[in-house]
Amino acid sequence: MTDSIRELTILQPDDWHMHLRDDKALATTVPHAAESFNRVICMPNLVPPVKNVEDARAYRARIMQHLEASNVSAERKAAFDPRMTLYLTDHTTAQDIELAAQSGIVQAVKLYPAGATTNSADGVTDINACVDVFEALEKYNLPLLLHGEVTHDHVDIFDREKRFLDEVMVQIIAKFPTMKIVMEHITTSDAADFVLSQGNQIAATITPQHLMFNRNHLLLGGIKPHFYCLPILKRESHQKVLLDVATSGNPKFFLGTDSAPHATDKKEAACGCAGCYSAATALPLYATAFDSVGKIDRLEGFTSRFGAQFYGLPVNESTITIINTPMQIPASYPYFDGSSLTPLMAGETLPWSIKKSL
Ligand code: NCD
Ligand code: ZN
Repeated sequence: MTDSIRELTILQPDDWHMHLRDDKALATTVPHAAESFNRVICMPNLVPPVKNVEDARAYRARIMQHLEASNVSAERKAAFDPRMTLYLTDHTTAQDIELAAQSGIVQAVKLYPAGATTNSADGVTDINACVDVFEALEKYNLPLLLHGEVTHDHVDIFDREKRFLDEVMVQIIAKFPTMKIVMEHITTSDAADFVLSQGNQIAATITPQHLMFNRNHLLLGGIKPHFYCLPILKRESHQKVLLDVATSGNPKFFLGTDSAPHATDKKEAACGCAGCYSAATALPLYATAFDSVGKIDRLEGFTSRFGAQFYGLPVNESTITIINTPMQIPASYPYFDGSSLTPLMAGETLPWSIKKSL
């Protein structure tokens, strides 16, 4: 039945928040990312973190080596453009920011509150000590990417994003009203409302898992480690609001997968790592989420226009076509040193897939 076939050709997407990891992991993650995305904002939480322009150049070179060595098509190799971020520590200086702004490869600066998530031990312990750095970000128009969760032991894990908005975000915005800020991977209606209430300098990324799932998927009928990421999945009412704003056509909300690989044995463990892996299947996942509320026509803005617009970059010229031919997500991918990587929705079938070019 040809009339039931639906195809959608959209501008090539960019991913404004992805973890590619380093060294041997890049052999898996880089080709996956390059198949779908042109620009990818690469998170700096390596061990040790990417703290200055030199680290960023060296990291980008390692990524490009793995791209060259991969069997990604020549066309996709030419289009792939990993953009670097610096990891803000208590020791980052205004000069680090100036050099980053002039480097041509650093696109943003990432703030992890110390201890908030994977490899965040070197994160910022006191936001008040970042005044010089924030002034420099404002001056050079470099966005601050925020992992928006407080980290005090006594704060409930489900309340950490909201507490960050109330206690930290409000202060930052009051002191630095023109600094560009991306609230990364938002998970609550509170964060969505907050972003909506602010000027155009404040935007947010949303992951596929926070659009498609809620904490019942993580916890009902047994604990499901492959749905565990930070900030943690919240209740269904929050999921619904995220889906509303993502599909609303409001350019303040755009694609950031937060694809965060951890070997299967590190996730399926007594103390499992946080992060969902979606680099290879992100586009069909987002398409499925948008289509679930009848808003597939809004996909391109979210995946391919609004992020570039926020960063002041041109939209991509190439296109990608998705089609409503079902695809099965692999049960796992080979990862480094004989380990495996279990993606989000491993083994399950999605109604949308990327159309192979002939
Ligand atoms: C990320 C990771 O594994 O690096 N994990 C996650 O659950 N999202 C870190 C992060 O972005 O919080
Ligand atoms: Zn992340």
